Amino acid sequence: MYYPDEIIEEVREKNNIVDVVGERVRIQKKGSSYFGLCPFHNEKSPSFSVNEPRQIFHCFGCGASGNVFTFLMKYENMTFQEAVQALAERAGVKLPEQEQSPQAKQASNRRAQLLEICKEAAKYFYVSLREERGAQGMEYFRKRQLTDETMQRFGLGYSHKTSSDLCKYLKSKGYDDKLIIEAGLGTFDERYGMHDKFWNRVMFPIQDQNHRVIGFGGRVMGDGEPKYLNSPETPIFDKSRNLYGLNYARSSRAGNIILCEGYMDVIAMHQAGFTQAVASLGTAFTEGQANILRRYAQNILLAYDSDGPGVKAALRAIGILRECGLSGKIIHMEPYKDPDEFIKNLGKDAFQERIDKAENSFFFEIRIMGREYHMDDPDEKTRYYHAIAKKLITTFPEEVERENYLQAVAAEFTIGTDQLRKLVLQEASAGITVPQRPRSGIQKKDTDTSAVKAEKMLLSWFTDVPGLYKKVRKYLTPDDFPDPVFHKVAEKLFEQLEQDQVNPASIISTFEAEEDQRKAGSVFNAQVGDLKTQQDKEKAFQDLLCTVKKNSYEQLSASLAGDVNALGKLIEGKKMLEELNRIHISMDDLL
Ligand code: UTP
Ligand code: MN
Repeated sequence: MYYPDEIIEEVREKNNIVDVVGERVRIQKKGSSYFGLCPFHNEKSPSFSVNEPRQIFHCFGCGASGNVFTFLMKYENMTFQEAVQALAERAGVKLPEQEQSPQAKQASNRRAQLLEICKEAAKYFYVSLREERGAQGMEYFRKRQLTDETMQRFGLGYSHKTSSDLCKYLKSKGYDDKLIIEAGLGTFDERYGMHDKFWNRVMFPIQDQNHRVIGFGGRVMGDGEPKYLNSPETPIFDKSRNLYGLNYARSSRAGNIILCEGYMDVIAMHQAGFTQAVASLGTAFTEGQANILRRYAQNILLAYDSDGPGVKAALRAIGILRECGLSGKIIHMEPYKDPDEFIKNLGKDAFQERIDKAENSFFFEIRIMGREYHMDDPDEKTRYYHAIAKKLITTFPEEVERENYLQAVAAEFTIGTDQLRKLVLQEASAGITVPQRPRSGIQKKDTDTSAVKAEKMLLSWFTDVPGLYKKVRKYLTPDDFPDPVFHKVAEKLFEQLEQDQVNPASIISTFEAEEDQRKAGSVFNAQVGDLKTQQDKEKAFQDLLCTVKKNSYEQLSASLAGDVNALGKLIEGKKMLEELNRIHISMDDLL
């Protein structure tokens, strides 16, 4: 599946990052860089920059960073391979045919066929709704106050009363039974033969993030069971990794995502202008979906039904969001059941007010917990406070965060702060174990340790003042950069420096994962600081070099502790450190 490095580099060189970004984001030239509003977080003043000579972008606000591939991956939500393909096409570079195993080829052909048949079915339902025969469906949607524009935007459709209509149509188009069944559009029955899965329902095509139809939901027009019928999971329809409405919500610039339960809720919200709304697919919200949402927003607003099951589902979703490092808030819908009904009755301004007043998810949890206690009974009240203390401990293992919440909760629920703190201590010493939260491989916005900062800065110096490298290369190897990403960056950068050809953007594309690309990109944007005199610069550089070397030496000695054969290595390292502290690295000829 990999393209050769030379081809990747050719594709990169032929796609000027300024143009590719400029086709999607408004940027303006200021000095040697271009600036604009960052498409990856919500902001009012531009902190997103594109550096043309280096062919990289960087946001000083959210830390997004990388080359033209990273940008496309992030902006269009593509994989690295997809970004390479898209940019190859843009620049007219012919990519070599990918070598695939026969099984892989077959699987990808099958996926393509499934996508095709779903698209065909969606078209069929769409047309049906607008025909004479679809009048009942049309009337249903009209009654639910959907405009023609909305129906078109969501590709809404209708499945006829006759129960093998679609199958016949698909067969006439050359699709075989096997594919129809695998796509979840039809079933085979000994008695009746092939017949449609969906009939006499209004149809909601479910699209992936790139607007491709991957499945359907069909609703009865009135009462009947089941209310919604959904496509089964298929090789293209993974319910835990897709969200209804995300194809539009991903380019909404609201700065948050509204997560709800129903197709109709999503549609009603979009129609009212809340295009950041998405829903899970008739199944519970999953970690996979949370991870996808994180690409688009840090704040997730839950607009779940106000009834019992809705509250339960919201509590579950809050837990998942928290696990994934996202912050959740609750939009309250009372006295209505769901966003659709709320908007229909009170309108979009009232809904916006509810968004603005959304409740912190921890407060929500505490409040719901409180329903189980009778507050006018002193004993129950005490037990409730204990429960709050326990919940504080288990939810917030970090002390600072816990203390902040403790104070806020005390104020919100009118409990004495000291009293609550005492309870927390009491519960903690009673042995509630603070869970080591599995972060699902996610860190919150990463704050660099001083060691990492020094490594980044040192590498950044070499790109700024390439001549420096040859002066100090005998002291430095990529192994002085223990982090795997920085190690690889150092390796490539040193190779380029040896050949006097520094090219940061090409180094970034040696990484496949967007997160690694961001990290690599951040190296080339590290701020060396405002140093005026040559003397200051020389001093700063030498300090950095010594810091990096010292950290690396300390790591080495820790890892070799007790290994007698390693003594020579350690002594050598020590000597080098001493020498580094002594020498003077002049920048006379460089600045
Ligand atoms: P709801 O029962 O809350 O329906 O189901 P709703 O969204 O308010 O729908 P309307 O307004 O009555 O048309 C929420 C979601 O749960 C899934 C669907 O995805 C639905 O949108 N669901 C519900 C099913 O998959 N099957 C069902 O039978 C019911
Ligand atoms: Mn509803």
